[in-house]
Amino acid sequence: MGRVTDAYESLIAAGSIEDDAAQRGVLPEFDRLAHALEKAPSKKGLGAMLFGSKPDPIPGLYIWGGVGRGKSMLMDLFHETMKDDGTRRVHFHAFMQDVQARLHKARQTGAKDALKPVADDLARGLRLLCLDEMQITDIADAMIVGRLFQALLGDGIAIVTTSNRVPDDLYKDGLNRALFLPFIELLKTKMVVHHLTSPRDYRQDRLQGAQTYFHPADATARAALDTIWDDLSGGFTQPLTLTVNAREVVIPRFCSGVGRATFYELCSTALGPADYLAIADTLRVLILEDIPRLSSENYNQARRFVTLIDSLYEERVRLIASAADIPERLYIEGEGSFEFERTASRLREMQSDGWSKD
Ligand SMILES: Nc1ncnc2c1ncn2[C@@H]1O[C@H](COP(=O)(O)OP(=O)(O)OP(=O)(O)O)[C@@H](O)[C@H]1O
Ligand SMILES: [Mg+2]
Repeated sequence: MGRVTDAYESLIAAGSIEDDAAQRGVLPEFDRLAHALEKAPSKKGLGAMLFGSKPDPIPGLYIWGGVGRGKSMLMDLFHETMKDDGTRRVHFHAFMQDVQARLHKARQTGAKDALKPVADDLARGLRLLCLDEMQITDIADAMIVGRLFQALLGDGIAIVTTSNRVPDDLYKDGLNRALFLPFIELLKTKMVVHHLTSPRDYRQDRLQGAQTYFHPADATARAALDTIWDDLSGGFTQPLTLTVNAREVVIPRFCSGVGRATFYELCSTALGPADYLAIADTLRVLILEDIPRLSSENYNQARRFVTLIDSLYEERVRLIASAADIPERLYIEGEGSFEFERTASRLREMQSDGWSKD
């Protein structure tokens, strides 16, 4: 039995997760990867340094399936068991941003074919690359991801990705999709494509019946949000930067589709509808802390808050919040208070049990 299977069983024994047959079905794939990585020569070895010898390609793993099935949880478990300085776990979106930034820099120095040196640079010292939530919507990403993966796999890097889509549906209806098709072929031939078919959406189950709106925003509320955050994020968090109209929008704390921010962070900075849409598009759950009382005094913040809630509502993002008061008493007088009634009603509706994306 391999390390990942052991780690999975420890979580069950500790009562942290439930035994799930479909999830167990993925474990042999991780054990296979762990085995292949253990056998692969170290990239830091003298041989590799002197002769630049290429390790054998390791077939990667593409796990896809519905939301909340445990894809990220399993990938993180694998990453944890393999963790060393040759491993990298990153959100796919952040990874592609890093790649595009490096390409941009390389092109500025006059490199004709910038992708190869950038891929080589990324591959240096790397053995395992875990990419969470692969989705391709951007044509610039669509046009390079094939060659990028080919180069990384060719360098002997084991790649694990999670996605909500079967490879054939990636970049569906995207511009110039014909040029993207070789990437799908690559995924199907060079990676093991595994459909995680667990019938349960564990994220939804974990929030079922749970209180999601806390007031006042005091220490008790904060402790409750901490508990929910720890439960949903599993401890691995990083900021996520989205690019919206060539500007950067940062979700300060992010993990597996769950974001956490304060009202101040999202509503006191110059964000607009496009930014809130991008946030709502990216997140499945938003933990939003410290919503204050709203009035004409903080009109701009209030207006942004309304736009944020509208975007979250449209995308059916699950909202978990702490606020100064119940929704109906957050904005009781002054310009904008009448319009806020709809926001208050939405805040109520979003607390209902069935409220979730997909
Ligand atoms: N077997 C399980 N028992 C209990 N909780 C679980 C189990 N598997 C996953 N979870 C929890 O359910 C939540 C959702 O899991 P995870 O984020 O891995 O789903 P996902 O498949 O990556 O979803 P998405 O497609 O939305 O990214 C997490 O909080 C995770 O810890
Ligand atoms: Mg996930």
